[in-house]
Amino acid sequence: MLDNNEEDLERLAELCLSTAKQIKQHLASTGQPQMSFDQNGPPFFPHATSPLDIQLARLDLRAAAKRLYDLVSGPDEVVAYNTYNITHDLNAFHYVNHYSIASAVPLDSSISYSALATALSLDTKQLRQMLRQLIQIHVFHEPTPNEVAHTASSKLLITHSGVAAFNAYISRDVFPMAVKQVEALEHFGHGNQHPHEAGLNFACGTDLPMYAYYESPGQSGVRGRFSQLMTYVSSFPAMDKEHAAHGFAWDALPADSVVVDIAGNVGHCSIQIARTNPSVRIIVQDLPKIVARATDPATSVIPPELRDRFTFQEHDFYAPQPVKHAAVYFLRMIMHDYSDAYCLKILRRIVPSMAPSSRIVIMDQVSPPVGVVPSAIERMMRTQDLQMMLLTNARERDAAEWQELIAGVVVDDDGDGNESVDDQVLSTKTTRKLEIKNIVSPQGSTMSLIEVGFVDDVVPVANGVSDTSAE
Ligand SMILES: C[S@@+](CC[C@H](N)C(=O)[O-])C[C@H]1O[C@@H](n2cnc3c(N)ncnc32)[C@H](O)[C@@H]1O
Repeated sequence: MLDNNEEDLERLAELCLSTAKQIKQHLASTGQPQMSFDQNGPPFFPHATSPLDIQLARLDLRAAAKRLYDLVSGPDEVVAYNTYNITHDLNAFHYVNHYSIASAVPLDSSISYSALATALSLDTKQLRQMLRQLIQIHVFHEPTPNEVAHTASSKLLITHSGVAAFNAYISRDVFPMAVKQVEALEHFGHGNQHPHEAGLNFACGTDLPMYAYYESPGQSGVRGRFSQLMTYVSSFPAMDKEHAAHGFAWDALPADSVVVDIAGNVGHCSIQIARTNPSVRIIVQDLPKIVARATDPATSVIPPELRDRFTFQEHDFYAPQPVKHAAVYFLRMIMHDYSDAYCLKILRRIVPSMAPSSRIVIMDQVSPPVGVVPSAIERMMRTQDLQMMLLTNARERDAAEWQELIAGVVVDDDGDGNESVDDQVLSTKTTRKLEIKNIVSPQGSTMSLIEVGFVDDVVPVANGVSDTSAE
């Protein structure tokens, strides 16, 4: 990995050269086309199928080239022109999306700006201003003066619904929200924890939290864009649901153990878990609308051979956990949607139902310290972190923040099974505290499995009581 302190232009350029050669040779020797801006070039870098050394070379090349570019741009351009450029890239993308310009540009030929403007009832000069902005980042090109045509990137806006939805969601929906982030902090208060008092709420004038807002009448456009982009992002190898099967010893759970997949949607992730252990029973909990979809034979995703081991249950995770003494309470991609205060509400509802050996397994990102993962990956992680703040006042957490969160899950347990009221000052009698037992990051996954159990638990889960009161 590139040394984070490397500033020598020659050494950076040498790294660019050596990694570029490595990648070029790999593509040539495996009969794959070289990367190109041409619209018929590969739409994606063949990342998923590349050997690890090529993936690492690509990450190094991106880091070195970006570092070189920033250094020779100079400090002033990084903070001045760079922001100017990004702002108007988004401005132009918003225009392109709003007027469906990509689909009006023919594939495999070009069109004049005036013909394109006439076809879309737009102003020729303004259209040209907007597209010439994006041409600078290889989205569209001018094969001859005043004629515009597709590149590999602009073509994706019409050929790939996931990429197109991602671009449209960011330029149409997120860009205007991000502009209001500071005003939202001023309005709702810094450090606000409520998911319905975030940047989205201020910008969109709604007091509904994000998911409820997107489900509300009149929001079908943004709902569709969000859902398509989530489907696309979930298809990335790093987000593969298969990773849920690794990073925790599911196969070591005693026979007939129960795993509760809290907010597990249609059960797509627990399919992987069920396959690791032939006797484990899965209870998938979610909101009524999702459970209806999960249990409808027309929309069920559970393979027939696993169906008798799956149960679906309507459950609001802010209500007391109804399944007692499960071996594992699994929460994938839930905690990063919420601030600490709301995560604590969710986690505290589980604790009174746990047996001494029960585990909570959280699958989410564990953010790295600055500069320890390749810069292209860290850039995505930091952007995702701010996105969570913007949407729901949530965050991605580093290891220390996970420790702090879990240490905050302290629940009264005086033997009557009633938990303390959230946020109430705890009595000094018996309390139950949780701690992180283990964090495992499956190879190639952006998310880790964070295993949580009681502080005073000395019974490893694999040998724990096979408590069948869970049902
Ligand atoms: C980001 S998705 C994660 C789904 C699944 N765990 C996964 O990893 O793909 C969030 C899920 O939380 C569910 N959800 C939202 N609010 C909930 C609530 N109050 N109680 C239970 N489930 C909820 C949604 O319906 C959705 O299925």
